[in-house]
Amino acid sequence: MLLSRLRRLSLFASLICGACTSAFAADVNDEMIDHLISQMTIEEKVGQLTMASADSQFDWPALARGEIGSVLNYATPYAAADVLSRAKSRLGIPLLVALDVIHGYRTIFPVPLADAASFDPDVTYRSARISAEEARSVGIALTFAPMVDLARDPRWGRMVEGSGEDPTLASIFSAARVRGFRDGGLGTTVKHFAGYGAAEAGRDYNSVEMSEAQLRDLYLPSYHAAIDAGAEMVMTAFVAVGGIPATANQHLLRDILRRDWGFDGVVVSDLHAIREMLYHGTVRDEHEAMLQAFRAGVDIDMDDGIYQKYLPEAVRTGEIAMSAVDQSVRRVLQLKARLGLFRQQPIDPAAADAKLLSPGARQAARELARKTFVLLQNQSSTLPISPSVKKIAVIGGLAASRPDQHGPDAADGHNLDAITLVEGLQARYKGKAEVAYAEACEMHCHRIEGFDAAIELARQSDYIVLALGEPRDMTGEAGSRADLRLPGHQTELVELLAKLGKPIALVLFNGRALALEDVPSHVGAILIAWYPGSEGGNALADVLSGDVSPSGKLPVSFPKTTGQVPITYNHLPTGRPAMANDFFTSKYVDTQIGPLYAFGFGMSYSDFKLGLPKLANDRVGPDDVLTFSIDVTNTGDMAADEVIQLYTHQQIGMRSRPVRELKAFQRVALKPGETKQVTLKLPVQDLSYTDQDGSRILEAGTFDFWVGDSSEATDGGQFVVTDGRHVMAVK
Ligand code: BGC
Repeated sequence: MLLSRLRRLSLFASLICGACTSAFAADVNDEMIDHLISQMTIEEKVGQLTMASADSQFDWPALARGEIGSVLNYATPYAAADVLSRAKSRLGIPLLVALDVIHGYRTIFPVPLADAASFDPDVTYRSARISAEEARSVGIALTFAPMVDLARDPRWGRMVEGSGEDPTLASIFSAARVRGFRDGGLGTTVKHFAGYGAAEAGRDYNSVEMSEAQLRDLYLPSYHAAIDAGAEMVMTAFVAVGGIPATANQHLLRDILRRDWGFDGVVVSDLHAIREMLYHGTVRDEHEAMLQAFRAGVDIDMDDGIYQKYLPEAVRTGEIAMSAVDQSVRRVLQLKARLGLFRQQPIDPAAADAKLLSPGARQAARELARKTFVLLQNQSSTLPISPSVKKIAVIGGLAASRPDQHGPDAADGHNLDAITLVEGLQARYKGKAEVAYAEACEMHCHRIEGFDAAIELARQSDYIVLALGEPRDMTGEAGSRADLRLPGHQTELVELLAKLGKPIALVLFNGRALALEDVPSHVGAILIAWYPGSEGGNALADVLSGDVSPSGKLPVSFPKTTGQVPITYNHLPTGRPAMANDFFTSKYVDTQIGPLYAFGFGMSYSDFKLGLPKLANDRVGPDDVLTFSIDVTNTGDMAADEVIQLYTHQQIGMRSRPVRELKAFQRVALKPGETKQVTLKLPVQDLSYTDQDGSRILEAGTFDFWVGDSSEATDGGQFVVTDGRHVMAVK
């Protein structure tokens, strides 16, 4: 009865939804939601606050009773359809099916860190949009993405899931991913709130200690940007921040998220993070963990079953007010309404499955991947492979490994769908050159028995494409590394092959910055492929052959050696800036100053000439917008893209200001001989930062700026902000 009434009402709601303010057109309005809540038992209410994962313990009877409101990890079309069909709520409340759709559902796109290397938010928008369309078509309605945690220590394996070390880049990419997922029909979850990427020593799940200023200036902007772009859900982090688990952290969840930012969506705990408070040592038992999480504002318990166990009783005894539970339930039902779940029709999984991985999606995956590769070195034009080459030796297990084209978090990606580097090159050179393959060593390269055969193949060839790096199980969640060099015996393999004196193009698969100082002198070219996705092999062949120029830039600084990390371009100054010939300055005695490859760096097959940057007005007030322009000419002989980047530095502040900060960037496509003027706009308010009390302050004073093709750009000038002010007061 009620269900059919809701259906009628939802039709009405869909007609009037021109007035809806949410990103999606809600199919049930607030009045209907309140009516539903008034009919629900406490068990049904808590069911809406319970998310359960697909595993052997899954409580099917509870699902059938409507006491599980959402599920995760039903990853295939068949599993999603099955769980949806078995959910029977007395009141017709639909089940929410969520999944980690991180960089693709069935069609796998480059990993998010690779997207950031494109310095083109449209790349990530398109990847997210197609991923969402695929996932939604099989009944998945929400993704646990984007992961927007800033990652400044590459030992942390989850760097691969985010946008690198810079808050501006991360914010722009976070917002673009939210828009892409939403336009493809998926709800989004910003995660992991907050500061997860700062786990001490890059060791996953480790504790986080940081100042309020660092939290607000560096780590929070990317979450805020994703929320402003319309993210519906926020996931807490596993870590304790300042000793308080993020899942019970009132300062993060109540003061910042709800009060300061006005977030009224759903907060979900990370998987088992409520129970893990027991190990953090901040609660005595599960009941107390429930109380702390709920009171901090966690609406949904992800797979702990702790809300189910303790929340109904806590309401009966008055420990938790029913109105507080109703408020959380309301948020969940509003989310379901916004996602259109009340009017979702049953899905035929076979029909949906057949439409996945369409030729269009594959083509997009190939085009987008090409923009993410970063050329770090190209001595004697080793790349592109010369048309005169007749025999190419492809060496290294990663060149033929399908899962490693996909990378971690590949949702429903089927390994068989991935095009490997060997296959891509064989297709590209068919009838033109022979492409032969030798594994040399297994992916982690612990065993060297295969080296001889690989070296022999290389000896008989006139060009070596060497595929090395990290197999995907070395990155992602729990994939922390203590040593950022190439794994196992890979560097020895490089040295042995170098002795042959043949051109070597090193293609690296990796999900973080690596410490490569032992490598460049042995090879001609280094191309970072990250994990390039289903069409990785074809996209790499497009670039290695010279059909397309590489154009990516590093979203994270590459150290020379692991001991330098964290090493970021936008660090704070010291009282003793590093100087090679002054001993008592801030540096190491056993390595050279600075990174091996700087943030924002990446080469092209073409050459670009940059004019001198111009600034329209060098005295500005707080409400002005600075306009920088620069002429860029493609002086080479092939069409290529360049990324122009703007950096600033506030000379004097009440607190030390970073030596450089990325403020704007733009990718520009240029034909040979073509010149374009690139204009970069910077609202003066974007120069503000966080005052001691949490408000944002813009200070008057002189700023340096640089415009160029990396964070080491040298051409620039100065401008003056004539008067400062608080640009966002604390509430
Ligand atoms: C991860 C989350 C993920 C969740 C559900 C956790 O282990 O930290 O990022 O969304 O699992 O798969």
